[in-house]
Amino acid sequence: MSPAYGESDRTESIATIHAALDAGVTLLDTGDFYGMGHNEMLIGEALRSARAELRERALLSVKFGALRGPDGGWIGHDGRPAAVKNFAAYSLQRLGVDHIDVYRIARVDPDVPIEETVGAIAELVEKGYVRHIGLSEAGAANIRRAAATAPIVDLQIEYAIITRDIEREILPTTRELGIGITAYGVLSRGLLSNTFTRDRQLAPTDFRAHSPRFQGDNLQRNLDLVEALRKIADGKGVSVAQIAIAWALSRGEDIVPLVGAHSRERLTESLGALDVTLDAADLAAIEEAVPADAAAGARYPAAQMASLGTEQ
Ligand SMILES: NC(=O)c1ccc[n+]([C@@H]2O[C@H](COP(=O)([O-])OP(=O)(O)OC[C@H]3O[C@@H](n4cnc5c(N)ncnc54)[C@H](OP(=O)(O)O)[C@@H]3O)[C@@H](O)[C@H]2O)c1
Repeated sequence: MSPAYGESDRTESIATIHAALDAGVTLLDTGDFYGMGHNEMLIGEALRSARAELRERALLSVKFGALRGPDGGWIGHDGRPAAVKNFAAYSLQRLGVDHIDVYRIARVDPDVPIEETVGAIAELVEKGYVRHIGLSEAGAANIRRAAATAPIVDLQIEYAIITRDIEREILPTTRELGIGITAYGVLSRGLLSNTFTRDRQLAPTDFRAHSPRFQGDNLQRNLDLVEALRKIADGKGVSVAQIAIAWALSRGEDIVPLVGAHSRERLTESLGALDVTLDAADLAAIEEAVPADAAAGARYPAAQMASLGTEQ
């Protein structure tokens, strides 16, 4: 809604947030750097204009630490304790709330020990400004160090039929430590859907214009995988996106799919995944259609891959 995947309409965005809360969605995830404050202000406006019982239902998960220049360019990360408190102060103001439910650094700052960043959030928890501490795109070693510093409730990380890297080391680690997963990229940035085509024109600000998975031969190979999934979806009378969300839900109670929507129409389609049941035969067919590691191209451009921290 604060464009990463094409333009959004403000009125429809707010109506979509209201419709989500009305349908029983409780988790709203954002980052202070999404549209450089735009997304938090949008959520703040949506909460202020929502009915009281809907407002109370909303749990806010906020990421911080990614730095942007005035031109919108990405210029690093900051996980120093003073910066953490400063980021939180501005987020509370923009959201118009007195506490954030889950607060997390978007990428582990390579220059600041994770213990210091998490320790600063723990101080915010003590003072009541934050309820719980989360992580985002952290690797197994950092997850362990963070969990040894303070209780960690969840790790936000990319996980999808087509992106299963976390199954090797990270998921066993979070399960051992009792940490949940909020899975993003469940639709692989809209690839796992009935709507993404080879000739789709993308604005330069669209993430997918620069993502290796959406370029040239990689895109074609990935669309072939989507085609294989489409046959399974058609057989069940559902959409590819619904299969992708139902698959994420099937991976365990600790996996919470985090799915974006620009509009109420998209939201309704995604929520329809809750009525899709995948039995053992369906799961085997999905596995055959898209084996682990079948995706062509990395999930981020090289420079962003380097800052993921999932190897640390
Ligand atoms: N921690 C992190 O590093 C990180 C990174 C990225 C995202 N996130 C979080 O995860 C959330 C989800 O983001 P995401 O990157 O996974 O992308 P997403 O917003 O879930 O999906 C990307 C695109 O998929 C398409 N789409 C959504 N629902 C669809 C449906 N039912 N059918 C067909 N297409 C559909 C839409 O594209 P079109 O409308 O353009 O077709 C949408 O913009 C974000 O809002 C953010 O909070 C976290």
